[in-house]
Amino acid sequence: MPELNLILLGPPGSGKGTQGERLQEDFRLPYYATGDILRAAVKEGTEIGNQVKEFMDRGDLVPDDVIIGVIAERLQQEEAADGFILDGFPRTVPQAEALDSKMKELKREMMAAILIDVSEDEVLRRLGGRRTCEQNPGHIYHVEFDPPKQEDVCDIDGGKLLVRDDDKPEVIKNRLAQYKEKTEPLTAYYEERGILNHVDGSESPDEVEEAIHGILATLRREEEEGM
Ligand code: AP5
Repeated sequence: MPELNLILLGPPGSGKGTQGERLQEDFRLPYYATGDILRAAVKEGTEIGNQVKEFMDRGDLVPDDVIIGVIAERLQQEEAADGFILDGFPRTVPQAEALDSKMKELKREMMAAILIDVSEDEVLRRLGGRRTCEQNPGHIYHVEFDPPKQEDVCDIDGGKLLVRDDDKPEVIKNRLAQYKEKTEPLTAYYEERGILNHVDGSESPDEVEEAIHGILATLRREEEEGM
């Protein structure tokens, strides 16, 4: 069975976290969301957390060397031996190159980069209404599109639902600008390597999930047939 090594790409608010959580459960693979990892480091006040806080508060990307180290360490763990899902990494061409050399060193290959396409208007609507669980940031809601049963309370663990610090309008604007300048070039990067796949992120979360499953099923079939 080919290894399921996946990258989720897409602008802020496209639904990478929403899909990452689902895929992690569907395929029982470790899921590394760099935004969640960094927010946890900030909350715990670790050395990395203190280093990155002001970048994140402004909506800027954190320095490449910091985040590359964080991910490289995780890819070598036993839990990632049969595959992994990356969300939020890589986000710059140097990060993508660093990932390629790490994979080469580990004698492994990326299976697919899945780009979740959504319009800027949709992104603004989504980030404006997002709420995340204080206890587990992977539990994601939207006040309009995916509301919790009880206002401001997580359905799964009863945690308080919060607005993320970087979901303020002026910070969202900068995150989108950073995405366009530094992350969008990765579309061409993975297209050239033949592993880019698009999904229409404007559909419902269930439909997006189904589309991703369809892509992965096709890729697995092709790989098994040696195409
Ligand atoms: P990060 O946490 O990765 O933020 P992001 O990429 O901006 O992505 P988001 O988490 O905002 O959105 P998402 O695509 O996961 O959408 P979600 O599923 O939540 O990064 C934060 C910061 O960390 C960066 O700004 C940077 O400073 C730093 N950082 C992280 N990685 C880095 C790296 N590699 N290098 C440098 N710096 C790095 O969905 C959004 C909302 O929409 C939710 O409310 C959800 O309920 C709703 N929704 C989702 N799907 C649908 C749907 N299909 N229909 C309707 N609503 C939907």
